[in-house]
Amino acid sequence: MKITRLGNTFAALAGGVDVRHPLCAAEVDAIEHALAQEGVLVFRAMPMNDDQQQALIERFGPPSEVKLEELKTAKSAHPHFFDVSTVEDDGGKLDPNSARGMYLRANLLWHTDGSQAQPPIRLTALSARRLPAVPPDTEYADMRAAYDALSAARKAEIDGMKVEHSIFYSRSKMGMKVADWAEDAFKKRPPVVHPLVRTNPLTGRKSLYLASHASHIIGLPVDTGRALIEELTEHATQRCFVYAHKWAPDDLVMWDDRWTMHRATPYDGDDARVLRWSGVLELEPV
Ligand code: OGA
Ligand code: MN
Repeated sequence: MKITRLGNTFAALAGGVDVRHPLCAAEVDAIEHALAQEGVLVFRAMPMNDDQQQALIERFGPPSEVKLEELKTAKSAHPHFFDVSTVEDDGGKLDPNSARGMYLRANLLWHTDGSQAQPPIRLTALSARRLPAVPPDTEYADMRAAYDALSAARKAEIDGMKVEHSIFYSRSKMGMKVADWAEDAFKKRPPVVHPLVRTNPLTGRKSLYLASHASHIIGLPVDTGRALIEELTEHATQRCFVYAHKWAPDDLVMWDDRWTMHRATPYDGDDARVLRWSGVLELEPV
């Protein structure tokens, strides 16, 4: 596998490996190490079907299940995938005020996939299935560089802090209300607690673990904890920490959710944008 840094960013192009074919152990290992170093890996020209995407993610661990009925359509009713899509199954534009529309709109907020779950998602694989002529970027932020740039006092203060994450918190920021969710949604997605600072087992480097789902800090007044989360998020998403991915047709982008955050950028065009999303879970609670 050939790793080429994408400009002056932390992300990289991964060449010389065809992720549509069964990966051998050495290839899986190389990708794991590249993700631990580079965080975001772009595999170009990988037109992919669902079976290939499923086989790929299964090489890295248990696939994340999509439990929320709000996200599924007849076409995307796959247990492990959902479509980050601007269209309905019939090709018509997705209603931005439908439950799916609102749910997906929250991708505009800086987030980490699956931090609202326990165990959380470790890796995401996103396959571009249809892109408009001028696709919107997806932006990624390096939570490791952001941690390194904190003052020693700040690091000492936040090491050991625990944060409550909830899908209902991130979605309420985009105007979703209780009535917009299926009745059992709350039971299926109870809030979870994760450390604010994580250490990558392969590199030993520390990083911030933040997300739009991060609601408050355990043991601090809600407002105080929320203000700290917001301050750290602003710090961590300064342009110097960000890689903006420019999508090309048939891109497959894999990223490490342990030490990156990402967000969608606005797109309101009529041309369909469809990306097939899949995630790999951590083996243990975090
Ligand atoms: C995702 C996501 C952003 C985008 O697929 O997890 O946040 O640009 N996507 O679609
Ligand atoms: Mn996401």
